[in-house]
Amino acid sequence: MGSMSVPNLILNNGIEIPQLGFGVFKVPAGRTKEVVLAALKTGYRHIDTATMYGNEGDVGRALADSGLHRDEVFITTKLPSGRAGHERATLAASLRALGTSHVDLWLVHWPPSARMLAPVWREFLAMRDEGRARAVGVSNYSLEQIDRLTEGTGEAPAVNQIPWSPARYNDALLAGHRERGVVVEGYSPLKGANLASPVLAGIAADHGVSPAQVVLRWHLEHEIVTIPKSSDPGRIAANIDLLGFSLTPDEVARIDSLGRG
Ligand SMILES: NC(=O)c1ccc[n+]([C@@H]2O[C@H](COP(=O)([O-])OP(=O)(O)OC[C@H]3O[C@@H](n4cnc5c(N)ncnc54)[C@H](OP(=O)(O)O)[C@@H]3O)[C@@H](O)[C@H]2O)c1
Repeated sequence: MGSMSVPNLILNNGIEIPQLGFGVFKVPAGRTKEVVLAALKTGYRHIDTATMYGNEGDVGRALADSGLHRDEVFITTKLPSGRAGHERATLAASLRALGTSHVDLWLVHWPPSARMLAPVWREFLAMRDEGRARAVGVSNYSLEQIDRLTEGTGEAPAVNQIPWSPARYNDALLAGHRERGVVVEGYSPLKGANLASPVLAGIAADHGVSPAQVVLRWHLEHEIVTIPKSSDPGRIAANIDLLGFSLTPDEVARIDSLGRG
């Protein structure tokens, strides 16, 4: 079952993002290159790293060894807290480590102080306009903080990367992002889920898949980007094997209701 058909979403500046990515937070340090290469071989075309993860160099080496063209892989990295005011130098270091002239998505990893919210965002837009990032966004922001950026600059972030899983499902929060044209990118989709939940287990059994695959497929049904991490070749493959089944609206609604418990 190919990754060829992992669906894309279109960001607010027209850039396409593969809805399923590979997260590399806490991949064991000595294994990052091998694990990312395994993910690329399995068909992932979207890698989510961050300056804070300390593994951009290994991600870059995996990309170089993969034989894939730069434009075949969507790369995200993030500005750490504490680097507000040093955006340009921090992105330059990320690009050097990743071995690329630009990333596809650059995120503010955590909101800086209220005073710095708009200035950091202005630097992000400038770096994008200079071609160092094809799109820019934020992570761990509230809707109110997103509105501050938009009021200050006229431009909303392309994405907000926030924790998301059935247990965290919140239709008002999702609708708030949609109204603002901000794509929700969920993180910790599996860590944040109760994979032993009878609802997930029942739906998984009906489709002959695992509860983890149901959770990831549920993100795709909602048009939410999801970036599961695994260091295990079998789970790396299982987590992208989502295209041979789909969830009915009733199943989606039953999973949504886990967030209202
Ligand atoms: N923006 C932020 O502040 C932020 C915060 C946290 C994470 N993130 C991003 O989001 C990515 C994903 O989040 P995460 O790493 O926190 O959590 P996650 O992807 O939800 O969960 C990873 C954990 O689940 C296990 N796992 C993976 N596939 C599984 C499967 N099919 N069945 C059962 N267990 C499975 C992994 O173990 P094995 O490795 O042993 O398979 C690992 O312990 C991160 O890597 C990072 O890129 C961003």
